Amino acid sequence: MNVGKRALFACSRQCRAGARVPLQFSIRAVPSRRHAHAAAVAPAWRPSSALDEWVQREARPISLRQLTFFGRSLTESRLLDSANYCRLELPTRIAHRLRDIQTLPYVVVANPHLAHVYELYLRAFERFRRFPEIRSLDDNDKYCKVLEETLKEHATVIPRLAIGVLEVRGLMKPEETDKFMNTILRSRISRRVIAEQHLALTETFNSPWHFPHAQPMHDPNAESVGEIFLRCNAKEIVERCGRTTQDLVKRAYGAHLDIPEIHINGHLDATFPYILSHLEYIVGELLRNSIQAVIEQRRFKDAKPPPIEVLICETAQHVIIRISDQGGGIPNEVLPHLWSFSKGPRRERRLENLARVPKLLGTMQELHVPGDASHEAHRTHAKKSKYSDSGQQYGSLTSLTSRPPDLRLGIGLPMSRVYSEYWAGSLEIHSLEGFGVDAFLQISKLGNKNERLTTRATMDA
Ligand code: COI
Repeated sequence: MNVGKRALFACSRQCRAGARVPLQFSIRAVPSRRHAHAAAVAPAWRPSSALDEWVQREARPISLRQLTFFGRSLTESRLLDSANYCRLELPTRIAHRLRDIQTLPYVVVANPHLAHVYELYLRAFERFRRFPEIRSLDDNDKYCKVLEETLKEHATVIPRLAIGVLEVRGLMKPEETDKFMNTILRSRISRRVIAEQHLALTETFNSPWHFPHAQPMHDPNAESVGEIFLRCNAKEIVERCGRTTQDLVKRAYGAHLDIPEIHINGHLDATFPYILSHLEYIVGELLRNSIQAVIEQRRFKDAKPPPIEVLICETAQHVIIRISDQGGGIPNEVLPHLWSFSKGPRRERRLENLARVPKLLGTMQELHVPGDASHEAHRTHAKKSKYSDSGQQYGSLTSLTSRPPDLRLGIGLPMSRVYSEYWAGSLEIHSLEGFGVDAFLQISKLGNKNERLTTRATMDA
């Protein structure tokens, strides 16, 4: 039995189903089930475990601006600083999430999908925390390999979490499930940003065009620094995501179908620094929702479908993208659960759909695993992150290319809000009953806001 399962089993001896008992024992001190039990009942004065130690550390939040300035003039010593920042930051952030999972009711953590995620996190935590200080480029190469492997290994985390929380609904309050999901997903975004940025900087440093011994220079015309695209143009992103979405909807519903046009107005020159794949995820998801709503509503009508109207508005601090459709609005019974990962009539249907396809649950192959290039169909921009799962629209349009259109995890909207709030933006939906929907995506355009690691509820607490 592996370490994670042992830890959970040890916990099960201690708690009745549903009880909340944080695991107190050291992960390292759990060599067997027998010992695990002994460790679980260990008195409180025992030296704290490695996890306890790492949980004491606070995450050090970053902003897009910091990442940009740091990566602009790349020297060997800066690259090594970046590596060591990752080396300490990743296990810290994972430790907090491990502790969150440990404090869930046992019946919840016993769910196979959630247990699998716990297992992955535990393994990554052990691997990361043991990595020695990175002092040379050689060390860094070794470290980058570990990062790459872990990014790939964690490819199924989002679908597993999504299915897991659907399966355990009823065992936890929906608000608690949603808070847990919001926190764990933000943390995952944050770790992947940190890891992918470091890998991208290493790639830049090793590229034939980079001269590590020359005086570091800042190229004012540079398009990107690592994963950060310095001048994302809102209009171009909507256009690109729109074209891809229209193509995929056409493929899913049949070429004969009239697809709504996308009209873009407003401040067409607005640009801002952002991680492109994050924005593509959100915009792709909103456009897909709008286009699908219009098509579903107009299916049996001959008239040309009304266009999706996109308005871009630039202010001193923000860029706001409003996406308006005439798809009939959101049904009243769905509206209260729009942002929930676990509740609402749509989620019930998702679970029924998933149950119809056991192979899918078993293998996860059709759930658009991040890092799998064959599922990158909707990625629109030339600079694609190799690992970014923001490009993989679980339950979203990409999936229409290879599985039934109704077989979606249904987390696109709450996931889009997690992405938009992560860089201090916001996403709001206003449904006009019987008419359509207005989605407002607000982006903080200066890039000077720190990543948001906690949900609003936690921040207010
Ligand atoms: C994750 O994807 O959840 C990870 O923690 C990956 C890691 C390499 C940052």
